Amino acid sequence: MELRSLEEQLALFSVAGPSASQNNVDSTFSDNLSLPIHRWFRYSAGFSATWAKQLIEREKLTGRHHVLDPFAGSGTVLLEGEGSDVPAIGIEAHPFVQRIAQAKLYWRQDARLFRKYALSILKQAEALGGDPTSYPRLIQACFPPESLSRLDTLWEAWQATADASPLSELTWLALCSILRDCSPVGTAQWQYVLPNKTKARALDPYEAFCTKVYLMADDIARRQRSHPGPQARLYRADARDCALVPDGWADLVVTSPPYANNYDYADATRLEMTFFGEVRGWGDLQAAVRAHLVRSCTQHVAPLAHETGRFLSNPLLEPIRTELTDICEQLEAEREKHGGKKPYHTMVAAYFSDMAHVWVALRRATRKGALVCFVVGDSAPYGIHVPVDRWLGELARAAGFASYSFEKTRDRNIKWQNRKHRVPLHEGRLWVEG
Ligand SMILES: C[S@@+](CC[C@H](N)C(=O)[O-])C[C@H]1O[C@@H](n2cnc3c(N)ncnc32)[C@H](O)[C@@H]1O
Repeated sequence: MELRSLEEQLALFSVAGPSASQNNVDSTFSDNLSLPIHRWFRYSAGFSATWAKQLIEREKLTGRHHVLDPFAGSGTVLLEGEGSDVPAIGIEAHPFVQRIAQAKLYWRQDARLFRKYALSILKQAEALGGDPTSYPRLIQACFPPESLSRLDTLWEAWQATADASPLSELTWLALCSILRDCSPVGTAQWQYVLPNKTKARALDPYEAFCTKVYLMADDIARRQRSHPGPQARLYRADARDCALVPDGWADLVVTSPPYANNYDYADATRLEMTFFGEVRGWGDLQAAVRAHLVRSCTQHVAPLAHETGRFLSNPLLEPIRTELTDICEQLEAEREKHGGKKPYHTMVAAYFSDMAHVWVALRRATRKGALVCFVVGDSAPYGIHVPVDRWLGELARAAGFASYSFEKTRDRNIKWQNRKHRVPLHEGRLWVEG
């Protein structure tokens, strides 16, 4: 999925699902932007906090009290688990995204201390010179020298006192979250940075930082006025083994995995990671980010095209192997007709191989009778339909879950609509039980 598609994935879905008779909630990720703490960073891959909360609350009534999100992203489920007073564990493999989510979970810090700490960074920044010339070309193309100078001073001042403490990390998040707002070019919420496009309005870095710090401090104070709930745990780890989750710990899994649709989570944070010097350019994203993730984009698997057969031979793929192999062969043949020669066949094989491991890990980490909800959509690379939800359901059953059903929440055809086909796609909730 690219551009809007992940956002739309978040198109909120009524809670519904097995045994549900809940009112539909019709909202999208943009709702999170008005919610305290969720709004600190706009993660376009995130889903609706309101929906997650409703699901958690509903399942609490049925005795499901331990929530797991193996693809925790920006921490939506974890924050709502805390708010609903249930223990929650999250796993996120993208190092930069995990850091953002972890910083959001530091909302238990003293609001006044945080404000004081962050504003002292601003004060120090204002006394510095700032050097816009040392940044990679992407960053220089995204910010006018004056803005980049100010961002640089904030970054320098932050580094001077950085100590990985919660206050330091919250302040890092404040800086991280204003970058796109301070750029006058096409750095909207989607993954691709478009230096040739312009925005109607770009914020001044010092003003934006100050405003963000006040907003965060207000949110912290507001959240602390309600019952805090148990502290959620977030691990920078891999959903394919859920290694840090105790056996049988979870009875509710609420998550949205990557889709098999070529969305590149590494590219989604390239602007921020480049600004902070974590990558110098696109070429660094493979080792810094993609290497840790489920393989769901062709950039990730490009060096592995010759290993497609190995992925397909994963014994866990047995229930879907015949169909999957057929689709992969079609994709490999189709590839020859396209200039880009994208290795979708490898991507799809690797994706299901990875997700088969996720199901095995989830079976181990959940107790019997657990409920799992995956917000997910299908895809059609090169116009060849991949029945993602059905295959994921089959893999879940093979891993030991009792049943699955799919609840469509909307039709879509985003990624492929400008291409030569019109394969109807959908998105919704895969419910797995047992
Ligand atoms: C659709 S997003 C989830 C967004 C989340 N629901 C939220 O509200 O922020 C999927 C996430 O899975 C993460 N991911 C991909 N591969 C992973 C893996 N092997 N283990 C854990 N997380 C992974 C991606 O980095 C991405 O943040």
